Amino acid sequence: MKKSLFLLAVAGTLVTLGATAYAQFKKPEDAIRYRQSAMVLIGNHMWRINEQLKSANPDVQVIQRSAAVVEVASKLPFEAFVPGSETGGTPATRAKPELFKDMDKVKSLAEKMQGEVVKLNAAAKGGDIAAIKAQFGETGKSCKACHDDYRKEL
Ligand code: HEC
Repeated sequence: MKKSLFLLAVAGTLVTLGATAYAQFKKPEDAIRYRQSAMVLIGNHMWRINEQLKSANPDVQVIQRSAAVVEVASKLPFEAFVPGSETGGTPATRAKPELFKDMDKVKSLAEKMQGEVVKLNAAAKGGDIAAIKAQFGETGKSCKACHDDYRKEL
């Protein structure tokens, strides 16, 4: 009797946790689209910064605007790797199945990237192109560290 009550309580907790994780998205495809959309924004604005850094005459204001967008967007994708969204999506998700098993590692890679992005935004505000370049390189490494292990190649 005691044991079955305990199991009932555990099952209840699991149902609640599942519902909490899922409540932000109506369907798994919505979660996939959400995280892909955030990554597209991050990727586009990192590319825009890179274009400026490559140019002979970088426009610091363009860099500052994009760095601010990246800082906000960098906080978004990771809440969308919810259980049930391992496959599917249009385009099909490029998340590797391992990602959903290594959530602690993924979270720390995400936090590392978010920290580099905060520093990138600070460097952009400072306006020193050499400092922005250096921090852009560090940020790029933190993207790659996760993609190498957890994103499928196209
Ligand atoms: C902690 C892991 C992680 C980090 C850090 C990370 N990404 Fe991603 N990224 C992913 C995963 C996983 C996908 C595939 C998502 C999907 O398809 O469901 C992805 C997808 C993308 C895509 C493709 C989006 C699309 O659907 O076309 C771009 C572009 C991208 N990331 C850019 C970046 C940039 C730039 C950074 C660094 C500023 C970054 N990512 C940091 C895991 C990460």
